[in-house]
Amino acid sequence: MNKLKNSLLLLLVLFIFLTPSVSADGDDEDKDDDDDDGFGEDLGELAKSLLIATIVLIAWKPLHVWLQKTGIKTNAQRWGITDIKVAKKKLLRFNKWMLRIHIIVGTAATIVGLIHGIASQMPDWESSAAWAGWLGLLAMSVLGGLIMWKWPPKAVKKRARALHTQRALLIITIILLVAGHELM
Ligand code: HEM
Repeated sequence: MNKLKNSLLLLLVLFIFLTPSVSADGDDEDKDDDDDDGFGEDLGELAKSLLIATIVLIAWKPLHVWLQKTGIKTNAQRWGITDIKVAKKKLLRFNKWMLRIHIIVGTAATIVGLIHGIASQMPDWESSAAWAGWLGLLAMSVLGGLIMWKWPPKAVKKRARALHTQRALLIITIILLVAGHELM
């Protein structure tokens, strides 16, 4: 349960980090000409929502472990669960579905982020932090791919999993993305 609390806390911090970029973008919109490229900005909003949806997995994973280990068993009566085994199997299926969504949404965030970056056509000095953040996203996706694909040797998969699931890379990526957008 402690792991779940830590994950929820981290998620909250990440969301708080991601939220100011919305208002900053909004303020800039007011200042800039109205015919500013709305397409690029809409894609930016979409990429951000996709990124938030991707990192929901951070909270889901420990919640899933807790539900499997103790949650279902201790709350079965309260939640009207009659067959604990069936409930755990259903949860396992839901977990697989969550991972599939994570993969699709994470890949989409990286692709949409790339199109958004190209469409925004910012000068290099302004956008370098944002592009570095996008490279972080790309790295997360490639590492995720290495975990999923069959061909890499076990040692490569193990390193990729360690890098993909540790928090530092994700936090640096988000800091770069936020910094890149606050500068605009
Ligand atoms: C680009 C955005 C992405 C971000 C920010 C991201 C972030 C994360 C994080 C933080 C975790 C760890 C969750 C936890 O254990 O608490 C995770 C797990 C995972 N991600 Fe991603 N991910 C992204 C994209 C992808 C993609 C594109 C794939 C696959 C192609 C992928 C595959 C996986 C897998 C398989 C796990 C579970 C690893 C395990 O439990 O051993 N991710 N991801």
